[in-house]
Amino acid sequence: MDLAGLIVDDKERGVFRYHRSAMTSQEILDIERERIFDKSWLYLCHETELENRGDYLRRTVNGRPLFAVRGADGQLRVFLNSCLHRGALICRQDQGSAEVFQCFYHAWTYNNRGELIGTPDEAGYPESFNREEMSLKQPPRVESYRGLVFVNYDPNAMSLYDFLGNAREYIDAMMDQSELGMRIIPGSNKYDIGANWKLLIENSVDGYHGLPTHQTFFDYVRALWPEAPKGSVGYGRALGNGHTVTEYQAAAGKPIAVWTPQFPLEARPEVEKVHTRLVERFGEEYAARMAYCQRNLFIYPNLILNDVAAPTVRYWEPIAPDCMRVSAWGLAPKEESEVLLKTRLSSFLGFLGPGGLATPDDSEALESCQAGFAVKEVEWSDISRGMHRSPKSIDEIQMRGFWRQWHAHLMGQTECDVTDGTEHELYKAWLDESTRPQTSVAQ
Ligand code: FES
Ligand SMILES: [Fe+2]
Repeated sequence: MDLAGLIVDDKERGVFRYHRSAMTSQEILDIERERIFDKSWLYLCHETELENRGDYLRRTVNGRPLFAVRGADGQLRVFLNSCLHRGALICRQDQGSAEVFQCFYHAWTYNNRGELIGTPDEAGYPESFNREEMSLKQPPRVESYRGLVFVNYDPNAMSLYDFLGNAREYIDAMMDQSELGMRIIPGSNKYDIGANWKLLIENSVDGYHGLPTHQTFFDYVRALWPEAPKGSVGYGRALGNGHTVTEYQAAAGKPIAVWTPQFPLEARPEVEKVHTRLVERFGEEYAARMAYCQRNLFIYPNLILNDVAAPTVRYWEPIAPDCMRVSAWGLAPKEESEVLLKTRLSSFLGFLGPGGLATPDDSEALESCQAGFAVKEVEWSDISRGMHRSPKSIDEIQMRGFWRQWHAHLMGQTECDVTDGTEHELYKAWLDESTRPQTSVAQ
């Protein structure tokens, strides 16, 4: 297979394309699993999902069943979910609380620190039988940042902190919204999309499809709020290590600090209180950035943190070249009042939920692209938009930033220049509050 030829990246002519076999080939998916997923930091969970001793949850990360549990000693550990005896899954529920995990097959029993504490017929094993060696195995690396827990199957990987690099600024802008810390709201969205996993990356940082694809949502917003900003004004940025972001003027309300007529009237005093407190804590400038801007932050290779109508965590796993499995959760400040939490949840579900006003449109668009890839006569997809200018949030630098890192990894390289080679002037201007557009709060 000609891996080098999968990408055309011509900075002189401003042309960027990828070969559509990248979206349909099982062989490429196998290489991606080995060279990307087995070597990158992969999102597992948020620490607030495991607050109490004994709390556990199970997930699948790059095809491996895992479970995380807070042990009796208060420490959060992650285990590979496979019995040391003959392989059965030890943790068989998505979440719960347990002091011990007993394998249902032959009843080997482990405590919530992963130690083997019992086997039936102990006398069936000699003195030399080493129980310690039979403790549950852990992935080589587990690290967290601002409560987000990641695993890495590569023992030699760089630290999570370094890997996140420039993306930390945007994670902070999301996590700083709370005084006591953000928490995952219990309950999740889970659904499959019949499309290649990389199509959701493109879609998640694509500021260009909003108006045509989500017309229903924007009609709804305008019906309630005729002065809503038209179009998104902002920038796109390739952050390095495959991460990318768009940050732009908010086109809808945000429960942390912008009330608009989409929200119930009773939530308004609460929203204003939160805004005042935000300014007290961070000053006008940073508070304005948190409140009046939205951001879509993609963490390579399969996590998106959407700080839009309400912050969400969404990650997905490839199941086949033409299928991915998506999971999503809402984030909220621990201290949030009931009325604001209700507003946040309806905002999250109304836009990003699987039955909301946006996600079904996006799933349809992605499945439509996948169906179109059956046309073998059209070999290339184009991602050139904005290559000749300082990238706007409606350009495609966000996708090129991913694709360049993807290509380097496929080719067995670790580092690459993910930018277009141009300065991010719009980003720099954005940091200067005086030049940044403001969303006027509706009266
Ligand atoms: S496979 Fe778990 S006890 Fe046998
Ligand atoms: Fe969308």
